[in-house]
Amino acid sequence: MTNTPLFIPVILGTPRQGRQSEHVAKFIVEQIATRDDVETELIDVRTIAIPTNDAGESIKDPQFSATVERADGLIIIAPEYNHGYPGLLKHLLDTCLKEYIHKAVGLCGVSAGAFGGTRVIENLLPVMRELGLVTIFYDLNFTNVQDLFDESGNLIDKQTYIRRLDKFMNELVWMSTVLRYGRQKVNQ
Ligand SMILES: Cc1cc2nc3c(=O)[nH]c(=O)nc-3n(C[C@H](O)[C@H](O)[C@H](O)COP(=O)(O)O)c2cc1C
Repeated sequence: MTNTPLFIPVILGTPRQGRQSEHVAKFIVEQIATRDDVETELIDVRTIAIPTNDAGESIKDPQFSATVERADGLIIIAPEYNHGYPGLLKHLLDTCLKEYIHKAVGLCGVSAGAFGGTRVIENLLPVMRELGLVTIFYDLNFTNVQDLFDESGNLIDKQTYIRRLDKFMNELVWMSTVLRYGRQKVNQ
């Protein structure tokens, strides 16, 4: 079994102008960069040009597909829009299938309200299962997100979120490691 660092990209799930989720993504990517057991990169739904007059694997973006294929796990940053997930996030996720199978996923909810994206996470869970992804049992929630970052986009209470992110990442690393072992060693 390979001991190379896990590759766990972060998907920023909204193209909205002025999105607060971008600050969340920046914080998570920067913190993961301090770990030596994980490599990451940001996947921004805004920058992937997939058609909107079709859906599914026929509009696969080669680079997104290759990145997910290489990944051991994913982190999805999902702002809560009318208690659901942004349409463009789902549209992008739907372009792949085999690339996700038996890989771990950690979910990060972002909302202006008090529930920190709990409802968008609940709505994503059945989607993750159908894609073949394996969810971890610890989520990240960014509650009242408009109050969490300063004007430069830095977290005001950084230590609290570093603690939560460490717990989340430790679980995601464990699940990603186990699943990588399984993909490499266990016949199906
Ligand atoms: C179309 C739309 C629907 C929204 N629905 C909710 C909602 O159901 N619950 C909530 O707490 N915030 C809701 N919000 C506010 C977002 O949670 C808020 O914009 C937050 O900053 C995260 O999204 P962002 O990354 O786009 O900024 C909504 C925002 C938009 C644009």
